Formats: sequence, C-alpha cells, structure tokens
Amino acid sequence: MPAPLKVALLGCGVVGTQVARRLLEHAEELAPRVGTSLELVGIAVRDAAAPREGVTGTPLADLLTDDAESLVDGADVVVEVMGGIEPARSLILRAIEHGASVVTANKALLAQDGPTLYKAADAAGVDLYFEAAVAGAIPIVRPVRESLAGDQVQRVLGIVNGTTNYVLDRMATEGLELEQAVKEAQALGYAEADPTADVEGFDAAAKAAILASLAFHTRVSIDDVAREGITSVTAADVAWAKRTGHTIKLLAIAERNTSDDVAGIQVRVHPALVPDEHPLAGVRGAFNAVFVEAEAAGELMFYGRGAGGAPTASAVLGDLVSVARHRVLGGRGPVESSYAALPVLPADAARTRFQVRLDVDDRPGVLAQVAAALAEHDVSIEAVRQSADGRADGSGDGTDLARLLITTHAAPERALAATVAALTDLDVVRDVVSVLRVEGA
Ligand code: NDP
Ligand code: HSE
Repeated sequence: MPAPLKVALLGCGVVGTQVARRLLEHAEELAPRVGTSLELVGIAVRDAAAPREGVTGTPLADLLTDDAESLVDGADVVVEVMGGIEPARSLILRAIEHGASVVTANKALLAQDGPTLYKAADAAGVDLYFEAAVAGAIPIVRPVRESLAGDQVQRVLGIVNGTTNYVLDRMATEGLELEQAVKEAQALGYAEADPTADVEGFDAAAKAAILASLAFHTRVSIDDVAREGITSVTAADVAWAKRTGHTIKLLAIAERNTSDDVAGIQVRVHPALVPDEHPLAGVRGAFNAVFVEAEAAGELMFYGRGAGGAPTASAVLGDLVSVARHRVLGGRGPVESSYAALPVLPADAARTRFQVRLDVDDRPGVLAQVAAALAEHDVSIEAVRQSADGRADGSGDGTDLARLLITTHAAPERALAATVAALTDLDVVRDVVSVLRVEGA
C-alpha cells in the first residue's frame, strides 16, 4: 500500500465531531476503498482546551489544535467543516496552494465566492469536493455534476432547508402559527437561537446558487438568487392550501427560461403551493428532497436527511474517500463547468401560476371589476372560488364580505405584481390577503 494520506480536519462541531469519530472507527474499512490508509493528523478549533461532548476523554482530544494554518500546511487532504467565510476561505486557499485536496460542507462560502476556490483548485490541479454543502446526506451534487452531465437539465425544485420544512409541516398538521412552530424547531435543535438564515431563506438561497451553477454550467452566486422566506406565511394560508389540495413548501427553484427573447436561467427561493399529488408535497418534517427534470432522464427525485452531524458526515466522508482515491491513483475527479455562461434573468421575469386571496364586498358587479383588473394586465384566470366570509372552514355569518380565491394560469411575475397593485386600488377590494405561487403543477 502507498504511504498513508494525512487528513487535516478544520472544525470539531456538529459535523466535525462525527467526521472525526467515523474516520477513526471505520479506518480499516476505509483504507481498502481508498487504496491506502487515512491518517487524521489534527483537528483545528477555536479553543483546543474547551471541554467537548463526545471528544473530551477520547483519542480525538489529543488531536485538537488551535493552530489551523500549521495543520493545513502538513496535510494531503483538508476537510473544512468550520463554516463561515473567513478564515475558512483563506485556509482552503492555503491548502490548495500547498497541493492538498479539499473537501468542504461550506455552502455559504461556495455560494458567495465559489469561483475563487474553483479557479485555485484548477490551477493547482487538486480536487475541491462539496457534496455536503447541499442537502446534507443526500447525494445530489455528484448526480447533477456527473450522472446528468450527458443530459439537459430543465428544472430543479428543491426542499433544501429542513428547519423551514419542519415549521411548515407543523403548521399544516397541527394548525400552529409560524412563531409557535419556530419555537418548537428551536427546542428540537433544528433551528438556531437566531433562525434568520433558515426562515428568511438565506440558507436555501446559498444551496439554490450551488445547484443552479452545477445544473446549468453557469456561475451563479447567492446575489443572483431572488429570495423570499416563510415569515409571511400564516396558519390561514396553510389551512387554505389544504382546502385546495396543496401543501405550502419553501422551494429552491432553478430553471431554464426565456424573457424578452433572451434565453437564460432563473433562480429563486420562495414559499409555494405544491399540489398534494406532487412527490415534494409528501416530504415531511425536517427531511429534504430535490426534484430534477431533465430532457432525456425525465423526472428524478432525491430524498433524505439534509442536516445533522452523522448524515452530513456521511457526505463529507464519501467525498474524502473519492479525493483520497484520486491522490492514490493520480489525477483529479470531474469538476463543475461554467462553459454555458447563461444569463441569470431578473426575478420579475419568472412565469408562474398564482393563487390570490381577496376580501371583497359581496354585491353585484364586484367579480366583474376584479376580472377586469386581471384581464387588463394579461393575467388569465384558471379558476375562481368564492365563500361567504373569510373563515377557512367555510362557515360564516353571511355578512357582506366575500372571500375570493383566484387561481391564475402561468403569468410573468411582473404582470401579477401590477395586477395586485390594481386590485389593491379597487374600492370593492377590502384586502389582498395573500398571493402565493403555485409550483410543480
Ligand atoms: P459548528 O458551529 O457546530 O462547528 C464549527 C466548528 O468549527 C467548531 O468546532 C469551531 O470551533 C470551529 N471553528 C469555527 N470558526 C473557527 C475558527 N475561526 N478557527 C478555528 N476553528 C473554528 O458547525 P457545524 O458543524 O454545524 O457546520 C460546519 C459546516 O458544515 C458549516 O459550513 C455548515 O454550513 C455545514 N453544514 C452543516 C450541517 C449541519 O447539519 N450542522 C449540514 C450541512 C452542512 P470551536 O468548537 O472551538 O468553537
Ligand atoms: N439549517 C439547515 C437546515 C441545515 O435547516 O436545513 C444546514 O444546511
């Protein structure tokens, strides 16, 4: 067997602890898969002296160091699971400059500055793998980058944030308001004390940027992603979705599109109504799933755990075995390409179906005025449903308020925005209660 490969681990938190533990416990099985043994030479943390659950009192404790730079300099492979932009970026670049291969789970860094890292890895001829950065344990980076490299991906729809999926699921099954469901998610350890990155869609947007880059061979950064979180979703929205045969999901969407005769791609994150019969509607709790539509392959769905120490460590270790094997055999694995360089189209160019809920006066001629406002902006109505008042169960006191639920055919987002503004200005419209996109129909 060739000489052992020296592995440096950056980070010993939720993911790092599991990576380190499994690396030691499964060393004998991993060696034949790689072609040589993997030697964990150190684990960089902020404070090597701090007590750590699952580490203190185990052989891992002797590997802790707060000198990440020296650790990187002596490694053949660097596994970065510390997160954040700096010092993660500088350490990864340093590792690459020293000729080490890199595995990272850092979606925030890849979505913000991936091209700098890819360029450095290309120049040095080393691997930079990142399966864990999108949807944790689910193999999705490699299938999109490699298995579908001979096909033409049309669309990717993903539930890539487990916290928000858990929150929306609890709202649907228990009738909870968002705030209550977020508190539950925090108590269970899914959501952080500050849940902003999840509920405002930043985490999903980073993953959407990475998926779009791979699927469409185009550099997409998080700044190109139109983002809307779930904070405006109410228990009433969720109840109405149920009544109409839908489930509300936070979706990361990347698709080929044409706007003003310009072919390009559209990347966005927002809550959407998904028909109950669509496979994504059945993704419960904190699970993730990515639904891919490709020209020849048709529809594919990838499902599993998108977070957590052990599931994420599975993806990290899979990458580690791959890049280590490449070092043993010589050469590097397939890399993401950006040859297509498709334009990223503006958010308001997206064409979607919408469901609009309105409170209106219940008297003759109101429906005609509402329909005229839609027609004026070239938005075509697919269905209209009216109930006596705003209660989700349809019961009511029969006063002069009517609730309209209008479903449109696909229309450009900018036309819908203009329609909503026109509806708001109508005297007969008391309130535009909600506007939700319908996806996956
Ligand atoms: P944690 O916060 O649990 O752990 C981070 C670790 O990195 C800690 O050990 C910390 O040291 C160390 N660290 C942070 N900054 C520095 C620094 N400046 N110098 C040295 N060490 C540092 O993070 P996670 O394990 O949850 O996440 C790690 C990465 O994996 C992130 O990029 C995340 O996005 C990604 N990821 C996480 C998932 C999950 O379920 N947790 C799922 C998918 C991806 P110390 O302990 O001393 O503070
Ligand atoms: N906070 C993320 C989620 C996990 O809830 O899915 C890490 O990507």
